[in-house]
Amino acid sequence: MPKDIAATADESARLGEAVNPTPGGRPAARDDILRVEDLRVAYRIGDREVDAVRGVNLSVGRGEVVAIVGESGSGKSTVAQSIMNLLAPNAEVTGGRIEFDGEDLIPLSERRWRSIRGRLIGLVPQDPALSLNPVRRVGVQVAEPLLVHGLATKHDAHDRAVELLEMAGLTYPAERAKQYPHQFSGGMKQRALIAGALAAQPSLIIADEPTSALDVTVQKQILDHLANLTQELGTAILLITHDLGMAAERADRVVVMKQGEIVDSGPAAQVMTAPTHEYTRKLIAAAPRLSA
Ligand SMILES: Nc1ncnc2c1ncn2[C@@H]1O[C@H](COP(=O)(O)OP(=O)(O)OP(=O)(O)O)[C@@H](O)[C@H]1O
Ligand SMILES: [Mg+2]
Repeated sequence: MPKDIAATADESARLGEAVNPTPGGRPAARDDILRVEDLRVAYRIGDREVDAVRGVNLSVGRGEVVAIVGESGSGKSTVAQSIMNLLAPNAEVTGGRIEFDGEDLIPLSERRWRSIRGRLIGLVPQDPALSLNPVRRVGVQVAEPLLVHGLATKHDAHDRAVELLEMAGLTYPAERAKQYPHQFSGGMKQRALIAGALAAQPSLIIADEPTSALDVTVQKQILDHLANLTQELGTAILLITHDLGMAAERADRVVVMKQGEIVDSGPAAQVMTAPTHEYTRKLIAAAPRLSA
């Protein structure tokens, strides 16, 4: 049976090669998994309101990698948190629409949200050290989305956790599954969190500065790994970073945010070589890897 499936997949890949190219080599009309329209978010601070996101439009196609780039405070995380319905209590969506796979997310109940978060949309958090529970075994935490969403029984969850840790590139995954976070390096923790985010095979992953807590070599390994896994599964990624070089290297399209607004966007190569906004030019000049 697995052989048959492999043969079929192979065949369709070959067919795809022959059939897919559209006139002019342009992709066929994009099938968006995520569409954000005129999103506005304000924070209340005392009796003041601060407009942190001021009319953001962006979309992510199925299997596409889109990066949001911008300096600290430009509103990147606020956009990500709006999409996951994880905004701070003093934040309010004051306008716009967020559509995921055709469903309008903003009016959804928290109950419906619990069935979406981790199942349809996965989150790779910024700081692996803060994101794992120190007193629970890593395997249990990696398999948690499967249990929460009823995708595995308690009995199967352990085996799945071992598989997921192996997929995450960890050696001795069965032993690793039984260990606690303090027995993992930073890079290993982030690999485990990526495994957890992909456990339920969501169609979109939101990664908010997923490697900023790690050193540069480990960053590259982790991002390569994330790219390989998501390509295999066809997972779309919304990658948030202040590093334009990383965005250009990893994303199909780049969206540049400044003070709550999008000032530039387009295919990564286009934004890098023909930025339309002065701010993007500044980011390019400031990115060490790019100006080198
Ligand atoms: N809980 C909050 N209460 C009040 N203001 C907030 C809150 N969270 C964020 N802000 C403000 O909203 C704006 C956008 O913040 P946000 O965290 O979205 O930026 P960011 O682009 O993710 O920055 P960074 O690169 O530092 O993570 C900033 O001015 C920030 O000070
Ligand atoms: Mg942020």
